[in-house]
Order: sequence, then C-alpha cells, then structure tokens
Amino acid sequence: MIKVTVNGTIYEREVEPRLLLADFLRHKLGLTGTHVGCEQGVCGACTIILNGDSVRSCLCFAVQADDGEVETVEGLGTVENLNPLQTAFQEHHALQCGFCTPGMLMTGVDLLRKYPLATDAEIREGLSGNLCRCTGYENVVKAIRVVVDAEHGR
Ligand code: FES
Ligand code: FES
Repeated sequence: MIKVTVNGTIYEREVEPRLLLADFLRHKLGLTGTHVGCEQGVCGACTIILNGDSVRSCLCFAVQADDGEVETVEGLGTVENLNPLQTAFQEHHALQCGFCTPGMLMTGVDLLRKYPLATDAEIREGLSGNLCRCTGYENVVKAIRVVVDAEHGR
C-alpha cells in the first residue's frame, strides 16, 4: 500500500513494485492529463512535479512517491480558472496538437518557481528536456517569458 498526495488529495492504493508513476496516475487514479510518449525518459511528455522537483514519471516507480507530494497538470487550473501559464500558452499559441503540453506546463511551472527572473536562455535550457513536434518552441518560450514579465511588472 502506498499513500501519495496528488494535487492536494491523499490517495492510498495497493500497487505492484514495478508499476510506473505515470501509469499509477493515469490508470489507478484516472489522471490522464499526464501523457506518455517515449516511455524512456526522452520526450518529457510525462513530466510531473514530485516533492517540488519536475521529474519524468515514466522513469519513476509509483512506490518512489510513497509519502510524497505530486502535482500534475490537473492541479494547475480549471477550464474556467486557468493558471497564468495556461492562459499564456493559450494566448500566445504555445500549443498545437497539445500532446506535449502537460509536460511543458509542469516543466514551466517548476522553472518559474525556481527561476522567477528567468532569461530567455534559461527558459530554453529549462525546456530542453521537453520535445514538441508541432510548435517550433518559439511560442512556448514566449508564453513563459510573458508570465515572467507579468510577475515582475514588465
Ligand atoms: S514518456 Fe516519459 S520522457 Fe517520454
Ligand atoms: S504541440 Fe504537438 S507535440 Fe507539442
């Protein structure tokens, strides 16, 4: 049995030791906002925040999150009340198919918490582990920069 807090809700579930954290979120909790692409740590689509750090949930076992705190894209905002980064993605066309978007958002949230004054170079470096086949990345960088600027009144 593991006990994990996900987006502020405590869940207790029996899991096999080999169950991946991405599959735990999607299949045991029904939180399918976390996407699974490569399943080998390359694409970043499965990125979530575990105990304050962005991690690839396809490279973690669910048991590693025992007694931990997980944040997923479902916890960011609602359709009626988007997180500022989600709003910036929407307004600046930072997504097309959207498959990479949950991972981009969670990476972006982690980046903004740790580097609230991030430069464009730091934003690009921060996003370098998240692959996107659609956007060319420019508008993703722009959306994050808009949030950095807004938070600092620029
Ligand atoms: S699915 Fe986890 S990094 Fe690609
Ligand atoms: S928006 Fe399609 S993969 Fe990024």
